[in-house]
Amino acid sequence: MSYYQHPLDVTGLPSWKALEEHRLAMQNFSMREAFKADPTRFDDLSVSCSGLFLDYSKNLITPETRTLLVNLAREAGVEQAAHAMFEGERINASENRPVLHTALRRPMGESVMVDGKNIMRDVHTALAQMTDIVTRIHNNLWRGFSDKTITDVVNIGIGGSFLGPQLVSEALLPFTQHGVRTHYLANIDGSEFREVTAKLNVETTLFIISSKTFGTLETLKNAQAARTWYLGKGGTEEKLYRHFIAVTSNKQAAVEFGIREKNIFPMWDWVGGRYSLWSAIGLPIALAIGMSNFKDLLSGAYSMDQHFLSEPFESNMPVLLAMLGVWYHNFWGAQSYAFLPYDHYLRNFVKHLQQMDMESNGKSVRQDGTPVSCTTGPVIWGGVGCNGQHAYHQLLHQGTPLIPADFIVPVVSHNPVADHHEWLYANCLSQSQALMRGKTREEAEAELRAKGLSEAEVQRLAPHKVIPGNRPSNTVVMETISPGRLGALIALYEHKVFVQGVIWGINSFDQWGVELGKDLGKAVYNQMTRFDAAPADDASTQGLIDFFRGRHRG
Ligand code: F6P
Repeated sequence: MSYYQHPLDVTGLPSWKALEEHRLAMQNFSMREAFKADPTRFDDLSVSCSGLFLDYSKNLITPETRTLLVNLAREAGVEQAAHAMFEGERINASENRPVLHTALRRPMGESVMVDGKNIMRDVHTALAQMTDIVTRIHNNLWRGFSDKTITDVVNIGIGGSFLGPQLVSEALLPFTQHGVRTHYLANIDGSEFREVTAKLNVETTLFIISSKTFGTLETLKNAQAARTWYLGKGGTEEKLYRHFIAVTSNKQAAVEFGIREKNIFPMWDWVGGRYSLWSAIGLPIALAIGMSNFKDLLSGAYSMDQHFLSEPFESNMPVLLAMLGVWYHNFWGAQSYAFLPYDHYLRNFVKHLQQMDMESNGKSVRQDGTPVSCTTGPVIWGGVGCNGQHAYHQLLHQGTPLIPADFIVPVVSHNPVADHHEWLYANCLSQSQALMRGKTREEAEAELRAKGLSEAEVQRLAPHKVIPGNRPSNTVVMETISPGRLGALIALYEHKVFVQGVIWGINSFDQWGVELGKDLGKAVYNQMTRFDAAPADDASTQGLIDFFRGRHRG
């Protein structure tokens, strides 16, 4: 029986027990000492692939820890699980679906079978359909109702139909082609709608309604508002098809909205929303950077896929990142994980990663419905450096919780300004160095004495200046951010999340938790707007409804 039909209780495995014992033995491990004692530590604990270099030497580990973590990955069946995913087994068991975002980046000629059908034909047909529209828009052959060319593309979508495309199109801004600007409309918030549309000329704007289900409230409301806006600004019903296209697996609903059938791009139930930027959901990316760059993005991800499938776990980048995460989360009690990209273009990476990781692994039961026996899914947070250094890094350095961090930095900037990039890079490195080294009491006292302070002052101030150090981090370095390297980087984290899901025995590809809020949302809306609706069944919600109704009465 496959791992997803009968997941193991990982905490009962011999390798888990071995890690528990090893954790006790590591209680007084010092990274500072380990670097002093072993000049080969950096070389031993680093790995490169697909244009990415991962330094994981600044962790609370020894080579023995790596062996034990890799043993756990092996015993938990990560290799079999990876093959099951790539080969299209229905590993999303609660929805009875295969999980095949990796098929979206496979080259032509390969085959992946789902229900007796080779889905690679559909994948490449969709890419050809994308190429067609991108070529037409970039060559001014697609025109709006007044025959003007398209300059602005507005993606109307939320969650996975927003975060991945936004991350990539903004991260690859230096690769923009033909000056097509991309905008994103996600939230059901009139202020967002106003701010986005205020920048647009209706004659040169194309809306993409991007929704796997074509049933998401926020997206449908924004799509309706966009249509009203288009008509109100002089657009005609007759030429509406030139301004509204859709990406969805629910073709019927898109047609009913008024989208022409040939302007509907496919999505499939074997692609999860948060893993869908590689599909036609990535159309705004392709419109921004062109199909050739979009295909380089896919190739970069494919290269990471091959590495993940074939590299021994000891040097397998996603497996190592995942198992380090498990080490801190399950054996050191780390509840959150910081992601710290040192690059303006990667500023939206955290938001994408939050959905990818937290919607995937925020689960409390295993695939077979039994409760998990260890904690799962850390809180993912962070933001672009150096800004974080002047905000929340204080807690990373001297706060009480242990928070592992990933630093991401390109060696070369797309936009050299004076010596900015030297300083940016130096800041990134010095942060991980400070987290690792810290400052001892002796060093703090010596520093204060060197300033000529009295001994009483030295003793008063020293405790505040002590920085515990020994705080773990990984650093991923690459050349400039390019489509290929970005594709590899995103796929790296997708596989990291997958491996952790396998270790915890959970289904990383459903998201039942978000449904309750959606259902209750409809009920609350009715209670707010209809006088015949039954009251809310708790006083807090009813009190807050009354507050709204009191203000909008009449
Ligand atoms: O509510 C969560 C979710 O289902 C995400 O998983 C998904 O990415 C998002 O909503 C948007 O869904 P859709 O693409 O169907 O509009």
